[in-house]
Amino acid sequence: MPTMMVAGNWKMNASIESSAALLEDLVAGATSLSENTQMVVFPPLPYLAQAQQMLQGTAIALGAQNASEHAKGAFTGETSAAMLHDFGVRYVLVGHSERRALYAETDAVVAAKFKAVQAAGMIPVLCIGETLQQRQQNETLLVVNAQLQAVIDAAGVESLGQAVVAYEPVWAIGTGLTASPEQAQEVHGAIRAHVASQAANVAANMQILYGGSVTAATANELFAQTDIDGGLVGGASLEAQSFLAIGQAAQG
Ligand code: PGA
Repeated sequence: MPTMMVAGNWKMNASIESSAALLEDLVAGATSLSENTQMVVFPPLPYLAQAQQMLQGTAIALGAQNASEHAKGAFTGETSAAMLHDFGVRYVLVGHSERRALYAETDAVVAAKFKAVQAAGMIPVLCIGETLQQRQQNETLLVVNAQLQAVIDAAGVESLGQAVVAYEPVWAIGTGLTASPEQAQEVHGAIRAHVASQAANVAANMQILYGGSVTAATANELFAQTDIDGGLVGGASLEAQSFLAIGQAAQG
């Protein structure tokens, strides 16, 4: 089983041509990644079928950026987890800070989405992280542990055995400000300890990704930290060479 993960969140960026070109370059470049590192891409929904086709038989896994908490019904514009599963999706982001902030997703909604993704046979990538104001008020650990506990309360601590956690300080996303390796490690260690206090075996095997302005230049030092098991990458995942370089950094 891969111990490291590099996940590329394309957000609302791509065209049918750029998506094809990026995937082609990633497929060609990813052959040099060892089995130790799982690469995952999260294209926008309309490009999932294209990505599924292009990634077939490769080591790169397919992810989706969002899923409805509902199984089906009158929810115009929404996409169920089962629909994503139909397109070969294996990972789904839940609770990304942009969804929490721009689409008012509460901890309860995030927990419901987490459960819906698992019920459909996929792995949720649960994103948690504090704002700049919360960090300045020394509330970082309080905030991330509360976001995590909301999911544990709803889905049970064992559910984290089939999930990935991504620590993404909101102030570091898309800003060019990366948490220092020490700042990130402190939070990652606290997240693992929080889970360990409830289920030591789950905590020991849980992958915790760091996200927030990760680049090829910062990845090495971040990934060298004890409790950092890879990265959730936005901007730098849109260019094949930089994302592949981040993949190389995960090899150690
Ligand atoms: P960024 O985005 O790498 O562009 O900061 C990370 C994310 O939002 O997942």
